[in-house]
Amino acid sequence: MMDGKFDNDIQAVVDADRAHVWHHLSQHKPYETVDPRIIVEGKGMRVWDQKGKEHLDAVSGGVWTVNVGYGRESIANAVRDQLLKLCYFAGSAGSIPGAIFSEKLIEKMPGLSRVYYTNSGSEANEKAFKMIRQIAHKRYGGKKHKVLYRERDYHGTTIGCLSAGGQDERNAQYGPFTPGFVRVPHCLEYRAFQQPGADLDNYGEWAANQIEQVILAEGPDTVGGLCLEPVTAGGGVIVPPKGYWDRVQEICKKYDILLHIDEVVCGVGRTGTWFGYQHYGIKPDMVTMAKGVASGYAAIACLVTTEEVFNMFKDDASDPMNYFRDISTFGGCTAGPAAAIENMRIIEDENLLGNCTAMGDYMLDQLNALSDKHKVIGQARGKGLFLGAELVKDRDTREAMDESRVQAVVKDCMEQGVIIGATNRSLPGLNNTLCFSPALIATKDDINQIISAVDGALTRVFG
Ligand SMILES: Cc1ncc(COP(=O)(O)O)c(C=O)c1O
Repeated sequence: MMDGKFDNDIQAVVDADRAHVWHHLSQHKPYETVDPRIIVEGKGMRVWDQKGKEHLDAVSGGVWTVNVGYGRESIANAVRDQLLKLCYFAGSAGSIPGAIFSEKLIEKMPGLSRVYYTNSGSEANEKAFKMIRQIAHKRYGGKKHKVLYRERDYHGTTIGCLSAGGQDERNAQYGPFTPGFVRVPHCLEYRAFQQPGADLDNYGEWAANQIEQVILAEGPDTVGGLCLEPVTAGGGVIVPPKGYWDRVQEICKKYDILLHIDEVVCGVGRTGTWFGYQHYGIKPDMVTMAKGVASGYAAIACLVTTEEVFNMFKDDASDPMNYFRDISTFGGCTAGPAAAIENMRIIEDENLLGNCTAMGDYMLDQLNALSDKHKVIGQARGKGLFLGAELVKDRDTREAMDESRVQAVVKDCMEQGVIIGATNRSLPGLNNTLCFSPALIATKDDINQIISAVDGALTRVFG
């Protein structure tokens, strides 16, 4: 794989990285004195860095992605074979893996029928926003174009997606934003007491009703879509409270608002069902997905819609503007669906949804047990292998732990050879949740190792 001067010289790689690579989410000043980390190899749940140090990866590649684990030869072979047969053709034509994966995917998503291919979660969400706007123009004279998004949710990195971004720190310094996006309140029950007037006995319904209040204030004839994460990821691993989703669905129906579920993190197994929304019996109009679709073996994202949404773009073939006039160059890469087909086969053949549920329950129990010992854990929560532990200074006031001390826990785990995550630079004063998303192949031994690292780190950082 290496070439010329880089042959067998990992330090040359580190030097090239330091000199030329601009890492995502990174302040580079420290790299003037410390080597940047290079991840060299991965197998199963584990990765090795440039020093040969082994790490147990409890975050599936850092950002909830490598759902089936590293080093899957069958996916590599499927991608290789497909690349040799046909690497690419623009999405105006079909491809063999694109057609096959669309059918397999739709089998897992009753009620939905059309798959639009693209190459990142942000881009998939942009497509959904564009569809909502185009529908508004086609049907409602452009008026019903607003998209509602929720405080603490994240939908991507582009200016359009940041305009629908519920994390003020993530957005800071990147404005001005696109008009037409309107925020609704979060639904984190643990912090409901800080929301004025919250009905703590019936919080799920109350939180959903806050969405209706926003719709009424904006005017229902101006609101075309509601975009929500099924379980909020980077905003703090928020599992919506009981009663929330039923009411959300009712509200969308009542005001003729398209429900767009952002499954970029939860999609393809992360919470123990194929999709996060499937825990709640809701019927979305649009679903976006990315990270776990091919577990990072190739870049692929999808926007999946109902036939009803699809039909709105073909109902008048005589109008030259009446189709979804969107382009995604890399939506035509065939490596994505080729990898996704094999990724899905692995999840089915190895019963990884079952493992995800069983290991997720086990890990949540272990986190709860840790919270008996460490008062700094205010709440452990999550679904499947998508878990968080919110750290607080005081259990009664629930004052959030400082981000720097939360990061110290992450760093301590890293030193122990266990990679965990934490919400970071997202919500002012509330970047206090440790994040765990091991691959769906995790065993009890892996989870015990993660828990033991966190236990040690909490003891060292907080005493
Ligand atoms: C819920 C959610 N939606 C969308 C995105 C954006 O995906 P991408 O980074 O592939 O553009 C992310 C990324 O973390 C995400 O967590």
